[in-house]
Amino acid sequence: MTDPAPARLVVLLSGSGSNLQALLDACADPAYGARVVAVGADRDGVAGLDRATAAGVPTFVDSVKAYATRDDWDAALAAHVAEFKPDLVISAGFLKLVGSAFLAAFGDRYINTHNALLPAFPGIHGPRDALAYGVKIAGATLFFVDAGVDTGPIIAQVSVPVLDDDTEETLTERIKVAERAQLVDSVGRLVREGWTIENRKVRIP
Ligand code: GRF
Repeated sequence: MTDPAPARLVVLLSGSGSNLQALLDACADPAYGARVVAVGADRDGVAGLDRATAAGVPTFVDSVKAYATRDDWDAALAAHVAEFKPDLVISAGFLKLVGSAFLAAFGDRYINTHNALLPAFPGIHGPRDALAYGVKIAGATLFFVDAGVDTGPIIAQVSVPVLDDDTEETLTERIKVAERAQLVDSVGRLVREGWTIENRKVRIP
């Protein structure tokens, strides 16, 4: 029996793309079971797009500003992603909330990695908010995106300690190391084994 074709990943990002890089590196091993078929961003000039190009992966940019309405942007993004026929769409540092058209198309397979232990500290300043609150444990959460802000069913979580002398930068970096490993591990398991979601509980058989 021949191996099944690798699962098709589309990665969306807005910044440095270290999570993308971790996925690209993992995909180099055929046993991982996936390949990144496209990378999309909401802005030009970010390092994540350069990482994709360096790996020979096609890129596209859909900037909100380029569309008359947010709904138009959302529909265009959904159409762009659909061209690449993804099995999984991964938001990895993508600083935009998608809308109803995107979720109608990909809501069953759109995942996001967030740099806090949800449901604590949703939004774009997870590590900063965790530090300000004084928590002793921080971390990252991988989840299926729903219509809320960082509210969808949780796939995996990983914790890291918060140290007394942490700054936002040091804590962010410690979280990102654990976050990348979690993303690579979970995406591989999702594409190789599939998943179920029942009453918010995500199970990978
Ligand atoms: C990740 O920590 C993610 O949780 C947050 O932004 C970071 C993206 O990092 N939303 P990178 O662009 O993958 O390096």
